Amino acid sequence: MTTVINHPLVAHRVTLMRDIDTKPKQFRELVNEITEFLAFEALKNLKTVDVPITTPVAKTIGKKIKDEIVIVPILRAGMGMVDAMLHVLPYAKVGVLGMQRNEETAEPIPYYSKVPPATGEEIAILIDPMLATGGSAADAIVQLKKLGYKYIVFLNLIASPEGLDRLEKEHPDVPVFTAAKDERLNSRFYIVPGLGDAGDRIFGTL
Ligand code: PRP
Ligand code: URA
Repeated sequence: MTTVINHPLVAHRVTLMRDIDTKPKQFRELVNEITEFLAFEALKNLKTVDVPITTPVAKTIGKKIKDEIVIVPILRAGMGMVDAMLHVLPYAKVGVLGMQRNEETAEPIPYYSKVPPATGEEIAILIDPMLATGGSAADAIVQLKKLGYKYIVFLNLIASPEGLDRLEKEHPDVPVFTAAKDERLNSRFYIVPGLGDAGDRIFGTL
């Protein structure tokens, strides 16, 4: 199931992020801010456990997060979302999956994997700013499932209809949260209107 975050605070930031004149420093800040909004929406059903605490005024029962979380960025652009995820989930683990699209075919080429094996109880939060053909995310989800992850959520900033359809078809069990569903892919498999190459814009390598 796909959830497109429909909120003026998100839409405003997505607009600034898309702008060709937005430089890497501001681009990274926007990626982080939007990622926190996505996490806020995507993680509202996290399990909690009651804990007794004492405030300066009284004893009471509070809540702490119970679920084990593993944040999994798809290199390289997914790295741009890691700080925000660790800001809201400071006790999460981080695994990484390296994936590079073939420039002609857009087929993903996996080149690195360092993700802790799963017991099956953890929640893996896969993060990548761009979902274009869906090849990278679909392959990453296959890899996570092979490692034993049963609960996977995908957080994304800009999605194409083609990429969303593919994930829905191949991984209907993985909820997707995105800040924008765009119009289409172009002949080079870039998202239109999109924001260009997310990795280049985050790391200043245009
Ligand atoms: C980009 C992006 C996604 C992928 C999306 O990465 O960060 O991982 O393309 O495209 P897809 O849905 O068609 O697979 P890219 O391969 O350009 O690598 P980079 O992050 O190193 O720039
Ligand atoms: N990867 C990007 O960074 N941008 C796109 O539009 C498609 C794939």
